[in-house]
Amino acid sequence: MSRKKVIVKKKDRKDKANQEYKKHTKRFQTVRGMRDILPQDQPYWQKIRRVVEKVAHDFNYQRIDMPIVEFVELFEKGTGSTTDIVEKEMFKFKTRGGDNVCLRPEGTPSVVRAYLQHGMQSYSKPVKLFYIGPMYRYDRPQEGRFREFFHFGFEAIGERDAILDAQLIQLALRIFKSIGLKNISLQLNSIGCRECRTNYNNLLTSYFNNRKKALCMDCKKRLKKNPLRILDCKEEKCTHVVFQAPQTIDHLCSECKGHFTMLLECLDEIEVSYAINPCLVRGLDYYTKTVFEFWPQEFEDGAQSSLGGGGRYDYLVKTLGGSDTPAVGFACGIDRMVLEMRKQDTKAYYPSSPKVYLAQLGNLAKKKSLKIFEELERNGIMVAESFGKGNLGSQFRQANQLGVSIVLILGQREALDETVILKDMESGSQEVVTFEQVTKEVKKRINKNAKSAKRTVARKSGRRNKRKK
Ligand code: HAM
Repeated sequence: MSRKKVIVKKKDRKDKANQEYKKHTKRFQTVRGMRDILPQDQPYWQKIRRVVEKVAHDFNYQRIDMPIVEFVELFEKGTGSTTDIVEKEMFKFKTRGGDNVCLRPEGTPSVVRAYLQHGMQSYSKPVKLFYIGPMYRYDRPQEGRFREFFHFGFEAIGERDAILDAQLIQLALRIFKSIGLKNISLQLNSIGCRECRTNYNNLLTSYFNNRKKALCMDCKKRLKKNPLRILDCKEEKCTHVVFQAPQTIDHLCSECKGHFTMLLECLDEIEVSYAINPCLVRGLDYYTKTVFEFWPQEFEDGAQSSLGGGGRYDYLVKTLGGSDTPAVGFACGIDRMVLEMRKQDTKAYYPSSPKVYLAQLGNLAKKKSLKIFEELERNGIMVAESFGKGNLGSQFRQANQLGVSIVLILGQREALDETVILKDMESGSQEVVTFEQVTKEVKKRINKNAKSAKRTVARKSGRRNKRKK
């Protein structure tokens, strides 16, 4: 066979293998709209989780975890059967037992279900709960919009006063600030209660009926089912019509007007700036009175990138079978917050790295290393190692890369003597210590090295200050 033919044959074989590999691996890619959150992204996620937990603690909210799978009916009744989330976006399926269930698209109805199921009505009010976890919506994926995404949410159940709405907004802003996110704009509106909404809906219906031709197909349907939703349609042709539509806040009953005024006064008191947005109605059916969203500043239309949103839902507890109980809450999309953190170059959370590296040589030393590692770890000392490696040189290279200040070396002889060589990487000094002494000696060195590092920083900043003068 000619050389050329052999090369072509080899290439064919390679292409075939590649195709096979692609075919095979494609099967094991993530499902569309769902992603892995990789180790390099974790510092951002960890920062958000830590801040949320700290702020929840400071504001007296208790953690609740609800199941990911719930009955479809919970969201049909709670979120609303005509909302996009329920009508078009739920991951629904039947269990083997014939139950109609879904992957939860949001957390609020689940929290209210848990509140009722576990008799929290008897707790002192408001019952303050928070959650962090995945939500599922079968929407068209794009930047900042996923089919599996994560919420952190806060719900306060059992209080009517607008001061609670203000306090929740204050809490949310505290979270944004602690994470380091800047320029978040608070969009605010009131969509009234059942009473004022009936009159307002009539007004809206007649306004849009006269301009029906100018509306998109979806809004023509909304006009029959829920005209309020036309106000937040993002279709360009609808926005022109919406521009001059009657505004909710001009048609509130006196109670709702008073509630909204109190909220604005509370926000003024704590110097929170806001934009009253008459088109903000939110896409879920349970809202009453206050509705709000948090937008990154450069973002204009609110379509896909609101970082979070919420409002009052004074009828939801009753709708789901409880007594008349007011409530207010909000949720933020963690995925979108991470994107925003990256855009704004916000600091992520990096846990402290190990200061000690444990190197070993030989089989007996390897086995004894496990014991020393456990002893140090039990005493709160983080230790890096590479027990699978047998070569001291490569272990030292790794120790250098990690920038540890102490290397413990355990060879065959040390293993027999039950001793360890302790090498101080800062001074270069080296000494032999017994197994019993090792924890005490390591702690002593770490403290000494930390103090000398502090002194160096202080000296350097002193020199910098002098130069400035
Ligand atoms: P929501 O506005 O539907 O409200 O969702 C809250 C946040 O979740 C949004 O502002 C957005 O950041 C994020 N989000 C929504 N859909 C997606 C998606 N497909 N991909 C990525 N992020 C997304 C609620 O769910 C209400 N339960 C909030 C609430 C709590 N109201 C009262 N209490």
